[in-house]
Amino acid sequence: NEIYLNGLAGILPRFPMVHAELEAKAQAALPPSVWSYVAGGAGDEHTQRANTTAFQRWGLIPRMFVGASQRDLSVDLFGMTLPAPLFMAPVGVLGICAQDGHGDLATARAAAHTGVPMAASTLSADPMEEVAAEFGATPGFFQLYTPTDRELAQSLVHRAERAGFKAIVVTLDTWVTGWRPRDLATSNFPQLRGHCLANYTSDPVFRARLDRAPEEDPQAAALMWTQIFGNPLTWADLPWLRSLTELPLIVKGLCHPDDVRRAKDLGVDGIYCSNHGGRQANGGLPALDALPAVVEAADGLPVLFDSGIRSGADIVKAIALGATAVGVGRPVAYGLALGGADGVVHVLRSLLAEADLIMAVDGYPTLADLTPEALQRVT
Ligand code: FNR
Repeated sequence: NEIYLNGLAGILPRFPMVHAELEAKAQAALPPSVWSYVAGGAGDEHTQRANTTAFQRWGLIPRMFVGASQRDLSVDLFGMTLPAPLFMAPVGVLGICAQDGHGDLATARAAAHTGVPMAASTLSADPMEEVAAEFGATPGFFQLYTPTDRELAQSLVHRAERAGFKAIVVTLDTWVTGWRPRDLATSNFPQLRGHCLANYTSDPVFRARLDRAPEEDPQAAALMWTQIFGNPLTWADLPWLRSLTELPLIVKGLCHPDDVRRAKDLGVDGIYCSNHGGRQANGGLPALDALPAVVEAADGLPVLFDSGIRSGADIVKAIALGATAVGVGRPVAYGLALGGADGVVHVLRSLLAEADLIMAVDGYPTLADLTPEALQRVT
């Protein structure tokens, strides 16, 4: 309402309202190597594109005589009540997207301002304790990239608990980096790496593995990181992951219903259906097309979803297909690039305003009203 009324009074938003424009402005604002890392994906990026176009194959059917003048977008998740079914997906190079290098802190401030939780990545330019200190009353999730060093994994999770994070998200699909031609073309990895290792260099277990402190020998710290970063976990590791924390444990990257059933049997608290925004493997199913079977297999367990959310309409459709809450990745990084915390707040509020208005106009006043019957497949 506020965005609209301001617009009618000639007070226009400072940042773009439509994703394509946001993307174009972010591209202009970021150095080419950073842009290609953030915007790019795996292979020829077919799956990345399919993630977004998949939403166009579903149409919402409006309902009338509903009187949806009051909407309630709130959702219960792991004992928390969120104002809306939206969170910020973990993004590991937020530091390099912000002009002052502290994009993780700025994003956390946007979480505090909007009530939209941030899933803070392991790959952060600022230590997780400092990020969590910016959350205010908004809950935060810590995303773990599980290193091969189990003691380090434990240390990261325990730090997250002490810092006040409310859930642990373990990402399973990125123990090795996918085939990303844009990154190879710009050879941007060394540049990026210097901006996302704060959770390692501030960790006592990681520091104990080094001969010299990371401040004295950053090269050796970076080398150590490359050696321990990726752990190709198997099902045998899940009980160990489960044992690391009493916090809700969510596994990210699940798209196959059999994997979902097995994870549920082994005691996870939430499933996170995602194909990493098409960054990891090309040729895959659009994540949205995997969602209905994941929801069915989850059989009542909360299902988080990301990959391709670009508008309020996309949020509404993913909820109607059974997601409990949806995550947004690249648009947050773009908002950050354009306007720091204010830019992120703008992106989140625009997404929510559009979702809310669609629910009003289409006669679906609560999330419970959004079921698969609200949608029709467009072929
Ligand atoms: C990511 N993603 C990601 N995921 C994760 O679990 N840990 C991480 O550190 C990162 N880092 C990261 C960096 C960048 C630049 C991007 C764009 C993405 C994946 C992210 O959490 C999410 O799955 C996708 O971004 C969702 O797709 P969209 O919204 O970008 O289409």
